[in-house]
Amino acid sequence: MNLSASTVTPTKVKFQIILTFHHIPYINMKDLTKEYTNGDITILWKPGTCIHAAACVKALPKVYDPKGKPWIKMENATSEELIAQVKLCPSGALSIKSDENPTSQTATKVDVLPNGPLLVHGTIEVANAGNIEQKKVTTAFCRCGASANKPYCDGTHNKVGFEG
Ligand code: SF4
Ligand code: FES
Repeated sequence: MNLSASTVTPTKVKFQIILTFHHIPYINMKDLTKEYTNGDITILWKPGTCIHAAACVKALPKVYDPKGKPWIKMENATSEELIAQVKLCPSGALSIKSDENPTSQTATKVDVLPNGPLLVHGTIEVANAGNIEQKKVTTAFCRCGASANKPYCDGTHNKVGFEG
């Protein structure tokens, strides 16, 4: 089992990561990034950051198909449509490779997602357990307390029925 773009999807990723541990000595889920390109722009997807809100699927269902292989089919939309959609990803799991995205967001803004995470838009540094992580675009912080990837949201708020 490998982690190629053709096999990793939002629904499969946790299962596949568990299987992959037998073959790869160390994988930090937070650091896993998959790349998808149409030769013009490159979309980066971080499965460990995805909160499975499915905003991508609703916006561009011909591009984002969680059951498809690969699950992101760049050829089914224009680069402009893809860039516009990536900006709507609530968690920042999707982004455009920065050297191809001259309008990348830098101002900081905070949104409280109803029944979900705290969304911090913009470039920030997160100091956590002695480590400092650079975050760009959007970072989703857990508000429900149930995430297995604190301080970040991992989508568990949906499973536990968080309200607030
Ligand atoms: S919009 Fe972003 S957070 Fe929602 S499912 Fe797609 S990649 Fe994941
Ligand atoms: S708010 Fe999403 S896992 Fe807690």
